[in-house]
This record gives sequence, C-alpha cells and structure tokens, in this order.
Amino acid sequence: MPNVKLIAAALAATLMGGSVPGVAAEPAASVTLPKPDTAGGKPLMQVLKERHSTREFSTAPLPTEVLANLLWAANGMNRPPSDKRTAPSAKGWHEIDVYVATAAGLYLYDARTHALKLVVAQDLRALTGQQDFVKDAPVNLVYVADFARMDAETSAEDRQLYAAADTGFIAQNVYLYCASQGLATVVRGWVDKGALAKAMQLKTRQQVILAQSVGYPRRQ
Ligand SMILES: Cc1cc2nc3c(=O)[nH]c(=O)nc-3n(C[C@H](O)[C@H](O)[C@H](O)COP(=O)(O)O)c2cc1C
Repeated sequence: MPNVKLIAAALAATLMGGSVPGVAAEPAASVTLPKPDTAGGKPLMQVLKERHSTREFSTAPLPTEVLANLLWAANGMNRPPSDKRTAPSAKGWHEIDVYVATAAGLYLYDARTHALKLVVAQDLRALTGQQDFVKDAPVNLVYVADFARMDAETSAEDRQLYAAADTGFIAQNVYLYCASQGLATVVRGWVDKGALAKAMQLKTRQQVILAQSVGYPRRQ
C-alpha cells in the first residue's frame, strides 16, 4: 500500500480547494482528476478470483490518483471522442450518474471532462446507507438514474430494469478495480433512498438505485 496518509492529505487538500486539511474551508467547486492509469492492475482472472465484499473500512481517504482511476473504471469514457464508457448502457442512454460522497462534500463525476463537480458542500456519507460502516468509508458512491434520458416509448417497467442492470455493470467495474488494487468495497441496496435523494437535492425524475462504499480495508 502507498503512503496512504501523505497521499490522502493531498486528496483532502484538493477537495478542500487547496487548503490545509483540518482547517475549515470551502470545498472546491470543481476538481479536474488526473488522467487514469490504464496500464496497471492485476490480470483479469486473478482479479475475478479476489473480488469480494468487505464491510470494515479504514477511515483513511483515497489518494486523488486512486479516486481518478476508480471513477474512470466505474464509468469513464474509454473510446473518446465518442461518449462510450467502461460500462455498457441500455440503448446508449448513459442514464446512470455516479455521485461521490466524501468528507468534503457530495460530488458528481463528469465522465466527459473526467472531473468532479460539487453538488452539496456537506458530508452526506452517513446518509448513503443504513449500516454503521458507511460513515467510516472515505468514499461512498451513489448510483442515480436520470429517467429523463430514457425514451418515452420504453415502458416504466423496462426503464427500471435497464437502470438496475446498467448500475450493476458500473458496480461490478468498481468491484474489479478494488480487487485489483486491494481496496475494500461493498455495493449496497439497504439505503433510505427518499432521505438520501432529498439530501442530495435530486430532481423528481432522478432515482437512487444503489450505493457502494470504497476505501482501504480496516486493519485487524
Ligand atoms: C443489488 C445488491 C444489493 C446489496 N445490498 C447490500 C447491502 O445493502 N448491504 C450489504 O452489506 N451488502 C449488500 N450487498 C452485497 C451482498 O450481500 C454480497 O455481494 C453477497 O453477500 C455475496 O458476497 P460477495 O460480494 O463477497 O461475493 C448487495 C449486493 C447486491 C448485488
């Protein structure tokens, strides 16, 4: 594992607009992430062998480079200039947005610019799930469907099905990246979705589908 404390301080400083961590400051409105490292990682078969859920997290934040790679693996653009992603998407709607709940605030991952946009300047991590460990994980991803991006000819039932399926692909990408990097993760449906949607200031056409905690495993 890299020097987590040093690198994590850099991420905290980045998200806090370059200020000293621990000193009250406004979180950065926008964070351009470093380019993903697409050369690294373990062989796929080994990653599949190691993929698993973990529910015990260290509170150490993720380094900026790790967060950048994680989000690109989740649903980043992998064939620019087209908008196509690392995860497939029904009819190419790309209706699932990846929100990133951190201590500094809630951010939206913008795959087109590979950047984070501040949505709510509050720590919403504890609201992203109903299990104790959720507040400890440095990053809780929240997968949100925007039904306005799906066509009206598709039935409501199929729209729900596609949103759930598309979320599953993204969540599995996160599982595989975490297995490759020795990170802890668990995808979660046990979420008070109404309360979370309110705190996230979602529109009525948006719906929380699942959440996923990511961090370093807690040392025993
Ligand atoms: C759609 C879905 C929802 C899940 N919801 C939760 C959850 O709310 N809390 C939790 O601790 N695990 C949750 N899990 C993780 C499963 O419990 C876990 O994948 C299962 O026990 C198998 O363990 P493994 O992932 O280590 O193979 C969920 C998994 C899926 C696919």
